[in-house]
Amino acid sequence: MKLIGPFAQLLPLTGLPEKGAISDEQLTVIPDGGVLVENGKAVAAGAFETLRKANPTAEIDKTDEPMVLLPGFVDCHTHICFAGSRSRDYAMRIAGKSYLDIARAGGGIWDSVTKTRAASDTELMENVVARANRHLREGVTTMEVKSGYGLDLDSELKMLRAIRTADQYTPASFVTTCLAAHIRPKDFDGDEKAYLHWILNELLPALHSEHLTERVDIFIEETAFSVAAARPFLREAKAMGFGITVHADQFTSGGSAVAVEVGALSADHLEASNAEDIRRLAASDTVAVVLPGASLGLGMGYAPARKLLDAGACVAIASDWNPGSAPMGDLLMQAAVISAAERLSAAEVFAALTFRAAKALGIRSSAADLQAYPCADYREILYHQGKLKPSIVWKDGERI
Ligand code: NIG
Ligand code: FE
Repeated sequence: MKLIGPFAQLLPLTGLPEKGAISDEQLTVIPDGGVLVENGKAVAAGAFETLRKANPTAEIDKTDEPMVLLPGFVDCHTHICFAGSRSRDYAMRIAGKSYLDIARAGGGIWDSVTKTRAASDTELMENVVARANRHLREGVTTMEVKSGYGLDLDSELKMLRAIRTADQYTPASFVTTCLAAHIRPKDFDGDEKAYLHWILNELLPALHSEHLTERVDIFIEETAFSVAAARPFLREAKAMGFGITVHADQFTSGGSAVAVEVGALSADHLEASNAEDIRRLAASDTVAVVLPGASLGLGMGYAPARKLLDAGACVAIASDWNPGSAPMGDLLMQAAVISAAERLSAAEVFAALTFRAAKALGIRSSAADLQAYPCADYREILYHQGKLKPSIVWKDGERI
């Protein structure tokens, strides 16, 4: 048994609504708080002195300066398994080139596919570990990691195996997702329907037999997969037992309606969602995941997070960390920026980075995954717009 603290403020983020708007007045803020840990689980949170007296034999993991304690963040959408850089795409974009110009010049997702296919298992695995550890130091204790830069049997297997091996070399927790339906690969002989058929009939059974993932994602967009082809694909993947998530409404509306229709865990992006999409998401159990890092990377507007919350949706914020649209990978900074732009309260942001993001992954954890910020008032955290980083992070009750 271990008692961590004391903390100037402890925010357990429990008892908050699963969906819709939240005001800061609804936050429970425990002054001089502590957390009791047993076998890596957080078993109690409350006043430090009360917990100390009730558990006199507990070892004390003592904090020396005033700090604010939050649960670890969950990043429910990343593509951190990739090789190479797309800095050339970025340079072309800020010089005013269009998506098509960039693709014609050999850039875009296909460029990362080529580089990821050429990378060794070890290189990919080490890349994932390095990025996960950076995230972990910044308070992200659980993260989703997608495939989707392989797009053939061997390369998708290579990516998901590299992610599984990486999981053993970092204290961070992973949830994996198959994004073979990222784009139709240039070397696939057949149309989008034939490619999705191949994923369902060849790839997913292979992934299933190696227990590599339980989730399937698709990019629904004019330049990727159509609504008409995505709908039966997702229905079938769900019938096979996979959890569903969708890259939806990034440039054009359409994807989020399919996500809701098939009962997806989450619909992610939503920059182009319209009033009807917002209403539909709010009325559903599908988590609306906004990705401000992609808006920053592409120089685009943000997803309508305020409208989604006011309509009653469950909104999560994720980094979308990837080599193309969101290379920054700083989840807290991105959350702070969309919070300022969209007028999201600290309570809404912390919910979006913790239990609402966990819902998007279909997980619920009682692990003592915690982070402490060097300040005495939780409002300092968003005020510093992501520059104030946690000074201590605990994974399963252990300092990392
Ligand atoms: O979430 N939208 C599609 N996929 C990624 C971008 C991936 C890439 O450009 O490599 C996204 O933004
Ligand atoms: Fe993405």
